[in-house]
Amino acid sequence: MPVEGTLGSRIADPGSRRIGVLISGRGSNLQALIDAIAEGSLNAQISIVISNRADAAGLDRARAASLDTLVLEHRSFASRDEYDAALASELRSRRVSLVCLAGFMRLIGPRLLDEFPQAILNIHPSLLPAFPGVDAQRQALDHGAKITGATVHLVTGELDGGPIVVQAAVPVRDDDTVELLSARILIEEHRLYPEAVRVMFNGGWRLDGRRFVRVAG
Ligand code: GRF
Repeated sequence: MPVEGTLGSRIADPGSRRIGVLISGRGSNLQALIDAIAEGSLNAQISIVISNRADAAGLDRARAASLDTLVLEHRSFASRDEYDAALASELRSRRVSLVCLAGFMRLIGPRLLDEFPQAILNIHPSLLPAFPGVDAQRQALDHGAKITGATVHLVTGELDGGPIVVQAAVPVRDDDTVELLSARILIEEHRLYPEAVRVMFNGGWRLDGRRFVRVAG
């Protein structure tokens, strides 16, 4: 049974275009979203940047862009459920309608998934379903793949397994290293993530089974 809709059809405040970005580290994908919004190619607003690590460099990027930031250390919570409930509460209180995981190194449990059905995105440095999990670029190199890439997908309970929103391919070169390959994939990631957010907010789309299908108009 297809699930219809734009993101706006399932949220209380459809016009808000408010994003919450969750990070754990460098934050270059967060920066790509900040830049796309600043240059006017992405009509959205980052309402909060939450990190599970106080030392995440991405927090400095957020502060430099005058964004609200919050450190929620997962270790301070007794369980994943409690941590996810705290995340959900912070995101909800800022009327976030789309959650973007950008290098957030925590699994998302049912508590948060249920609060944001079909409204959590993740970016992954491979052409999923190939090479899920950590070290995706190394996995692609070690496997001998000739093409890898980047994927933005909806988050479900399955690790890196949700419906694919957008993808980009990156050829693997014979003389590649993990660093070189990662850098070329990252260029595509920074283009893809704003595009995925645009699709979520602008386009009609529906889920047909696990297929994310864009609807014209
Ligand atoms: C990216 O490669 C992303 O695909 C993966 O984690 C990395 C995060 O990088 N999920 P950054 O923190 O956005 O620079």
